[in-house]
Amino acid sequence: MNYNIAVIPGDGIGPEIVAEAEKVLNKVGKKYGHEFTYTEVLMGGVSIDAHGVPLTDGALETAKKSDSVLLGAVGGIVGKDKWYELPPNLRPEAGLLAIRKGLGLFANLRPAYLYDELKEACPLKENIARQGFDMMVVRELTGGLYFGERKTEPVNGVMTATDTLQYNENEIRRIARKGFEIASKRRKNVISVDKANVLDSSRLWSKIVREVAVEFPEVTLTEMLVDNCAMQLVKNPAQFDVILTENMFGDILSDEASMITGSIGMLPSASLAEGKFGLYEPSHGAAPDIAGQNIANPIATVLSAAMMLRYSFDLDKEADAVENAVRKVLEDKYRTIDIMSDGCKQVKCDKMGDLIADRI
Ligand code: IPM
Ligand code: MG
Repeated sequence: MNYNIAVIPGDGIGPEIVAEAEKVLNKVGKKYGHEFTYTEVLMGGVSIDAHGVPLTDGALETAKKSDSVLLGAVGGIVGKDKWYELPPNLRPEAGLLAIRKGLGLFANLRPAYLYDELKEACPLKENIARQGFDMMVVRELTGGLYFGERKTEPVNGVMTATDTLQYNENEIRRIARKGFEIASKRRKNVISVDKANVLDSSRLWSKIVREVAVEFPEVTLTEMLVDNCAMQLVKNPAQFDVILTENMFGDILSDEASMITGSIGMLPSASLAEGKFGLYEPSHGAAPDIAGQNIANPIATVLSAAMMLRYSFDLDKEADAVENAVRKVLEDKYRTIDIMSDGCKQVKCDKMGDLIADRI
């Protein structure tokens, strides 16, 4: 079968890591008889340089027409890159928000998993790390504070800024269903995170999530306040299976969850629309400080491609093959510099891609 993938290398290390993911996909294609066709799309700083905006209508159209999207990373350094002299709606990150909204990517899946081989990298105490953890943050991605009305204006002579946090019940219901569906294929446990002791939007969130829970009797629902969740993530991460939460809380908690794995260079993500369409990208950013040096860790992007095979193309066997190849490379003690430890062999970005492809 032939799959059309829109590829957005983006900025910083984006082009390097995306090239390795393509290498691995090509090996999957060869071995399992699929053809992957790539159409390159500009987004972020590179698009600003070429067209003056972080995402053109044409780029969005190309992404829409594809079967799925593979993204490297966008963004540069505030105070250094000239992109940040532009108004906020023209900066690289605005391209990311525009493509999320434009493609209807309402469900952001961010797994955080502690690899046995990388347990030493976990910054938590040994007695906590020993237990391991394997969670999936399911973050609502096209609503809430990110997309509410905002303005900065004088009110009674005092400069005042307003951001609006709005959710309707349909937005909550569809992300909740997604969270429960995912949990039903995992350890059947949803922890819904909100701030229902303060926010109306959280109280509606809680009400709708409880209604959706009734549709999934095999899944247990627990509700947790966001401040407590931030604490529990470092105290007892093993308790989490699926964390279901709104956009802003999910942004913050998913960074915390990835940090405690000690290896953000390993974590993929998927952003899904209704149906099978999705955008896949590493959880980490563009890392402009190490761009062009061939030292970035391509594993998060390779694992994002595996998520694409699983969620958009229903190619579970092929996705397993990629994930197993990554595990094998770690067992064989190959490491990029960010996850290097004693007794291992340090390799460059492109070599890591070769090693993974060889194991498929
Ligand atoms: C993320 C990032 C983005 C977000 C930024 C770059 C707009 O932090 O994907 O988590 O806040 O969603
Ligand atoms: Mg973030």
